[in-house]
Amino acid sequence: MSDHELRVSKIRNGTVIDHIRAGQALNVLAILGIDGSDGSDGEAVSVGMNVPSDRMGRKDIVKVEGRELSQNEVDVLSLIAPDASINIIREYEVAEKHRLERPTEVVGILSCPNSNCITTKDEPVESKFEVLEDGVRCEYCDTIIRTDLAAHISVK
Ligand code: CTP
Ligand code: ZN
Repeated sequence: MSDHELRVSKIRNGTVIDHIRAGQALNVLAILGIDGSDGSDGEAVSVGMNVPSDRMGRKDIVKVEGRELSQNEVDVLSLIAPDASINIIREYEVAEKHRLERPTEVVGILSCPNSNCITTKDEPVESKFEVLEDGVRCEYCDTIIRTDLAAHISVK
């Protein structure tokens, strides 16, 4: 894309999550715990939706200023937006570019739908799911989530 077509401006330091399947940007923001409630303390976040892409037709893109992602965030992202690429930006340059790999387990961020699960009680137990071919399984109570993983994102 040439500069005069840029819809979302470049960032100086932070993370660009690119090639997100169109329609998934809001789920990506949820994974990152960005819901606008931080007010003036939050990072600057830019979102492009339905941006034309040679490779994908249309794509979404999320740019987070001043922040690199944690491994737990990257792991859940791999499940929700498997085609995404993660670009670490330092002083306006792309310092690192990563494709996502399907993890074997994900910790935190997703919440178990079983209200009797230890991870949904007032205990300090973080959720942990084994990644299956077609879903994820809670490692504490064996509940399986197969469809609409995004509906189970809950960042505390
Ligand atoms: N980007 C940004 N701010 C910067 C540098 C890059 O927001 N200071 C964004 C670009 O707009 C692009 C992504 O980070 O969406 C990756 O940048 P780059 O690797 O330069 O673009 P491409 O070569 O098009 O990436 P790819 O090969 O992954 O498609
Ligand atoms: Zn559970």
